Parts: sequence; C-alpha cells; structure tokens
Amino acid sequence: MAIVGLPASGRLIAPRALYADGSTYYWPRAMSEYLVLGLESSCDDTAAAVIRVCGGEREILSDVTRAQYDRHADYGGVVPEIAARAHVERIDGIVEQALDNSGRTFSDLDAIAATAGPGLIGGVMVGLTSAKAIAIAHGKRLIPVNHLEGHALSVRMSEEVGFPYLLLLVSGGHTQLIEVSGVGAYRRLGTTIDDAAGEAFDKSAKLLGLRQPGGPQIEAAAEKGDAGRFDFPKPLARREGCDFSLAGLKTALRLAAEAIDNPSGSDIADLAASFQSALAAHLSDRTERAMASLSGGGPRTLVVAGGVAANGEIRRRLAALADSRKWRLVIPPAKYCTDNGAMIAWAGIERLRLGLVSPVEETLGFAPRARWPLAEPIPGRELGGGKKGPKA
Ligand code: KG4
Ligand code: ZN
Repeated sequence: MAIVGLPASGRLIAPRALYADGSTYYWPRAMSEYLVLGLESSCDDTAAAVIRVCGGEREILSDVTRAQYDRHADYGGVVPEIAARAHVERIDGIVEQALDNSGRTFSDLDAIAATAGPGLIGGVMVGLTSAKAIAIAHGKRLIPVNHLEGHALSVRMSEEVGFPYLLLLVSGGHTQLIEVSGVGAYRRLGTTIDDAAGEAFDKSAKLLGLRQPGGPQIEAAAEKGDAGRFDFPKPLARREGCDFSLAGLKTALRLAAEAIDNPSGSDIADLAASFQSALAAHLSDRTERAMASLSGGGPRTLVVAGGVAANGEIRRRLAALADSRKWRLVIPPAKYCTDNGAMIAWAGIERLRLGLVSPVEETLGFAPRARWPLAEPIPGRELGGGKKGPKA
C-alpha cells in the first residue's frame, strides 16, 4: 500500500508513516536502525540469527544452524514427521544460542521474522509458532517471511547488489529463475516441472549407493570420472521457455547404472560425472534463455542461491555463461546460499525499512503455508501455467 505521509525529519519520538487507508506504521527507534531475529525451519535445518542494520551498515551478530542429516540418513530423504519433531526439540535452544551469541536480549529486538512457508508444514508450524510466542511474550512485531523471498534477497545481506537482478535458485526444494526488481517485486521466469536440482542430486546419489546429502557426494565422485562416457538426454531441449525438468536425467542415470553388472568405482565416477555435467548444462541452458528474454534494459546481474550453488561444475558453467554475455555473476558465500536464519532476518529487515510490514495483530493470525509461490508465472514464458514442481 502506498505511503501517503511521512513524519518530518529530525529526531523522531514516535516515527510513523501514514497509509492511504488511514492506518499508521510505527518505526522502531530511529528510522534507520533495526535489530531483527530470524527463524528458519522449513526443511531439515533449524536455524536462528540476529542481524543489525544501521544506515548502510549491516552486521550479522549471530547465525546458528543445526542440520538433521543424522536423523534422516537411513531414509534417503527428509522425512517430514522426523524433521518436525527435531525442530520442536531444538528450536528453543537454537534461538537462545543465537541471542546469546549476539550479545542482545529479546527486549532489544525490533521484530521477529520467521519462515511462514513454503516448506514442510510441520517444520514451518514449529518456527512460526515459536516466533509468535516470542512476539507476544516480548511485545514485538512479527514478520512472516516467504522462504523464497529469503533466498531471493539474501545476496544483498553480504554483497553490494542493487535491483534488478536475475536469480537462479537451486536447492533441495526449489529450482527457479526469478527476476528480482525490488522487495516484493518478483517475476518467475521458470520453475521445475518435476524434481528440484538438489532433489535430483540426492535421489541419484541414493541410486549410486552414495551417502546423503547427495550433491557433494556426486561432485566428489565425479572428480575422478569421465563426463563424456554416458550421453544423457537434454531435458526439454525442443520446448520454448525457461522451465526445468530433472526427473528424466535421474531415470537416464538409473537405466545406465542398471545396464552395468556390478558397477565398479570407476563406473560410479563416470556415471556421477556424466549426470552432473548434463544437469549443469541444463541449468546453464535455461539461465541463458532467461538472460536472452531479459536483454534490453533488464538486469545484467545473475545471482545464484540455494545449496546446489556450491557445486563447482555448475559454478564454472554459469561463470562462462555470464562472461560470454558480459553479465556480472554473484554467488554469495556457501553458508548464505543454503538455508539459514540470517536470510530470514534480512528479508524481515528489507520489508521493515520499506514499511512493508503489517501490524502485529494481523501477522499473529498468519497461517503457515506448505505452498506459497513467490511470484506468479509470466504468461507465455513458461510451459503451461500454474504451480509446478516441488513446493512451487
Ligand atoms: O538450500 P539447501 O541447503 O536446502 C534446501 O533444500 O532448501 O540445499 C540442499 C541441497 C541438497 O539437495 C544437497 O544435495 C545440495 O543442496 N547440494 C549440492 C552440493 N552441496 C549441497 N548439490 C550439488 N553439489 C554440491 N556441492
Ligand atoms: Zn531453501
């Protein structure tokens, strides 16, 4: 909603903005300083972080993440009920640790931001409910954050990146191309029509008898392999648009593996290398299409986020692509590419400083969402329409 009035500048005793409908938004303390706690629990990481922003300065005062690989190792994937139970056991301790490490207390905070979706609903409920309890107990603002917005904006927490930019989000739950024009201004150019990239890595690792999480294991195995030995298909090669499809690659890998009697270590390495190369080529091909569709006054910065952005082969391909098109490529440090509490706190701060936050009486009623698309697809750019793929 448009802000129609701002208080006079100078020292603000009760800073506020007046909205068109007559409602007001009160800025905490001075207009430019914010201290926000962020909670993340939408998949298999329980995370909390405290961020302070003052003017142009940003400081991650604490950032605590606890993964659950050990709990899910026997199942070859994240089991929602087990994940939710682990979040319940851990969230209070993680929040306490994040506050302790930051040297601040609940009363110092301006707001609590929490992932409110999309994700595994049990986990999202745990984090959001904890955030609501803290907001009520300490009289603080609550900011429900879209997990995808957390990923979309997180680069701005650690790097100097202005709008607009093209985001390639590649994680265990998401594979999307998004044009980010501002806070809350997102256009989805493409998404996966089946598996997410990280999911394809994890499932393929399981097929090859490798440990979880599968991405780093496939990458390590691929180092010794011959990427040219197996000619895996190029997904959606003849289809228009920027959508991804990764399930076919996984099937091709399974068929190739099944055709080998007692695969040796070097067979596994060749399979891993061929799979990784085909997947990286697909990501790069779709990203190039998105870049081409945006040329002429659009973004010239490509940002990559999500756990899969750690992959060296994918980074190399995207670096070559950005170079060939004279785009800037920005990949934040790995710890901010994967799920973390800091990106949720940061998204809260980005919204808070633009006044894009509803009053706490409203946000306390916000229900967790298993699905919550960040942006609607653009007609004609994607194959078909509507939601697709995991957690679209
Ligand atoms: O973003 P993330 O930490 O969690 C979410 O899914 O939201 O991403 C985890 C995914 C896993 O599927 C993991 O296998 C993949 O990222 N991953 C990798 C690599 N490191 C992590 N995939 C390929 N290569 C890697 N080096
Ligand atoms: Zn994520």
